[in-house]
Amino acid sequence: MSFVPMTTLMRHAQDHHYAVGYFEAWNVESLLAVVDAAEDLNSPIIIGFSGMFVDNPARRRPEDIYHYGALGKRVAERAKVPVALLLNEADHLPILVNGLKAGFNAVMYVKEHATLEHLVEVNQYLVQTAHYCEAAVEAELGELPTADVATGKMSSGSLTDPDQAAWFVKETGVDALAVAIGNVHLLEGAKSGVDFKLLQELRRKVPVPLVLHGGTGVAPADFAKVIDLGIAKVNVGTVLKRVFINTLKQQLGADVSKVDPHDLVGRGGPADVLMAAREAMSREVAGFLRLFRSENQAFKV
Ligand code: 13P
Repeated sequence: MSFVPMTTLMRHAQDHHYAVGYFEAWNVESLLAVVDAAEDLNSPIIIGFSGMFVDNPARRRPEDIYHYGALGKRVAERAKVPVALLLNEADHLPILVNGLKAGFNAVMYVKEHATLEHLVEVNQYLVQTAHYCEAAVEAELGELPTADVATGKMSSGSLTDPDQAAWFVKETGVDALAVAIGNVHLLEGAKSGVDFKLLQELRRKVPVPLVLHGGTGVAPADFAKVIDLGIAKVNVGTVLKRVFINTLKQQLGADVSKVDPHDLVGRGGPADVLMAAREAMSREVAGFLRLFRSENQAFKV
């Protein structure tokens, strides 16, 4: 059990008609919230962090990816369900290479408005390096629009072309392909319209597991359809942070000046706000795991 290759999880999901969930964490509470839900439901799971956020040049303090790798790998090894550890969506190669050294067993490179040649070149290098470390590479072809939280406006994107995707996978040797089929990143409230026909065609032409990003903005009823049509992994991020933040706000809304600070953070009891946020996030993750039909698959991997 515990630390397993991401390809093993995606292949099992594909063969057994469910999707493995990737739920993006940003600290220890959020990481454990994901594992809590997976253990409660006996679901295989992919945990991890955003390469772009960890490596954000505007951070007030730079982060060390080795901390994240060590934490994630140890949490995976100690889990009661099979877990893979993904360094997701980094737009800078060095952090991905260091991520592999730090213990991540899956990596993904993205670059806004990148040319096809650039994506081929970077992914060929990444596949060589990652496979040497027994890690997997996920790539994305086509570009997801991103919703702007403040205005609700969406950036332009481009759908994944099935023939180009088949060629790209052959040319690079990537282990999984994220597809743009109408799904949107960071979409809260509204729901994206998935192009099921395009997904069908992609599944027919592309030989590796397909990944759906932008899980927050997908209508719950659409998950069963996309899984039936061949999506083997779904990424979820934004809604988890929203639930975490809303819970903290609610917990800290009342005057807490007379509450023991150790009860508010650290002791993990009824007044602990971080524990409340972790539990709320875990319930949200569990809801997705049921929609992804990954419940009780852990012991079959
Ligand atoms: P959302 O934040 O829209 O759920 O998307 C997450 C994601 O795709 C991370 O790769």
